[in-house]
Amino acid sequence: MTAAPESERILILDFGSQYGQLIARRIRELNVFCQIVRHDIPAERVAELKPRGLILSGGPASVYAPNAPRCDPRLFDLGIPVLGICYGMQLACQALGGKVLPAERREFGPAICRIREANGLFAGVSAETTVWMSHGDQVQLVQGDFLPLASTDTCPMAATRHRTRAVYGLQFHPEVSHTPQGTRILRNFLYDVCGCQGLWQIDSFLSQTVASLVERIGNKRVICGLSGGVDSSVTAALLLRAVGRQVSCIFVDNGLLRQGEVESVKRTFTGHFQADLHIVDAGARFLQALEGVSDPQEKRRRIGHVFIDVFKDEARHIEGAHFLAQGTLYPDVIESGGTVDGPAANIKTHHNVGGLPKELGFELIEPLKDLFKDEVRKLGLELGLPETLVYRHPFPGPGLAVRCLGPVTADRLRVLRQADAILLEELKQSGWYRKTAQAFAVLLPIHSVGVMGDGRTYENVIALRIVQTDDFMTADWSKLPYDLLGKISARIVNSVAGVNRVVYDITSKPPATIEWE
Ligand code: XMP
Repeated sequence: MTAAPESERILILDFGSQYGQLIARRIRELNVFCQIVRHDIPAERVAELKPRGLILSGGPASVYAPNAPRCDPRLFDLGIPVLGICYGMQLACQALGGKVLPAERREFGPAICRIREANGLFAGVSAETTVWMSHGDQVQLVQGDFLPLASTDTCPMAATRHRTRAVYGLQFHPEVSHTPQGTRILRNFLYDVCGCQGLWQIDSFLSQTVASLVERIGNKRVICGLSGGVDSSVTAALLLRAVGRQVSCIFVDNGLLRQGEVESVKRTFTGHFQADLHIVDAGARFLQALEGVSDPQEKRRRIGHVFIDVFKDEARHIEGAHFLAQGTLYPDVIESGGTVDGPAANIKTHHNVGGLPKELGFELIEPLKDLFKDEVRKLGLELGLPETLVYRHPFPGPGLAVRCLGPVTADRLRVLRQADAILLEELKQSGWYRKTAQAFAVLLPIHSVGVMGDGRTYENVIALRIVQTDDFMTADWSKLPYDLLGKISARIVNSVAGVNRVVYDITSKPPATIEWE
């Protein structure tokens, strides 16, 4: 068997950088496995993990501050190559006896960087290249054993290398897209300095993960909760590949799903994958629990409770179930404070509606917990999941209930579902679906006046919410062509009974959120 893709590992020590995850994603894109770890990870633990290289991230602190986060100084004696970025550079220089002088002023934005040595870290990089600076009160010049490799007008030591050790520093951020040749610099560090070969490939991850799942699961039975979303579908497909007939999938139809969703899950998992699929038709139970409820958090709470009850009831019927597989991803692990030493401690609660409590009594399997979303998508395609599923927009656990503002009734859900289906169909047909991150219809809790033929109407209003975003923490509204918006609006009012007005939400997040509830 070939070497495990994660045997070639880079550790990123996190000093609180806003770009920590971005550094990790860039490295993964360069086909090298990496993990974000606490900045104070002990040198012994690092030695055990045998990384090929260490990256010290940026961070908001100043190295002069008394409580500034530091790393174990013995890390520099392990003989492992180190790349310090921004704060990480200052810290490395300071730890190795370099003198770090404060900057005269803060520097933020693009700068022209002149390269002194076009080899090593800068092999293949143009002599003058734009870099992105983002630092406050800190290093301009490092003295001692550190050699300057590059400079900008305001920063004579924009990049540095230790005279005798494989310790490098960059004052700028190679990971952001505003540093156009940043990927080349990171690649040089990984491949030339650390000697990586690029083992992190999704097909080898797949074969290694399948092998380890087979070994861990043995002949026991696994339950997979399916939501219709990307993460749970890829988890299920992966388990089906590993231990096929020992997998039972549970899909709770809560009656709050979009048009055609149940059928498409059924088609994918019983057709191509021939899974033991348990679809629980629980719409009536959810609707009953939601009767008269308009408060969004109360909707979430009730849906969460009913979901757990329904899931438990169904799981009880699956004889001999020992494992429960969940589609936890690496960003969930990072955001819940997980480290390289442990799986996710607790997943973010806000997005955990539709999640399951630990007390269900199963042993948890989280085969995607090292992957970023784009890697999960690649894995999904590799496993043969249809593109329409792999590139699906996220859909919240509480489903249409939080898009049906005010009370949730079967009739209101019907209106919303039809309008939403038209919106998605038009986006897909026009090629806009893949250009947007999330798109949906919202049924407002008001009526508006209209005219149809000779008569006056007093009907529902549909709002369209369509956003662009990379991380869902911030988002911008999508600038859809007017004629497409017009077509969507006309189709909705003409064919969805009970709707006489469509409005477009042009608010960014913040201050608004993506969902309306
Ligand atoms: P907001 O509305 O907070 O949404 O800007 C950010 C992302 O989270 C999704 N979202 C949820 N997902 N359960 C979920 O599983 C929820 O209760 C929930 N609320 C919001 C939202 O669809 C968007 O992708």
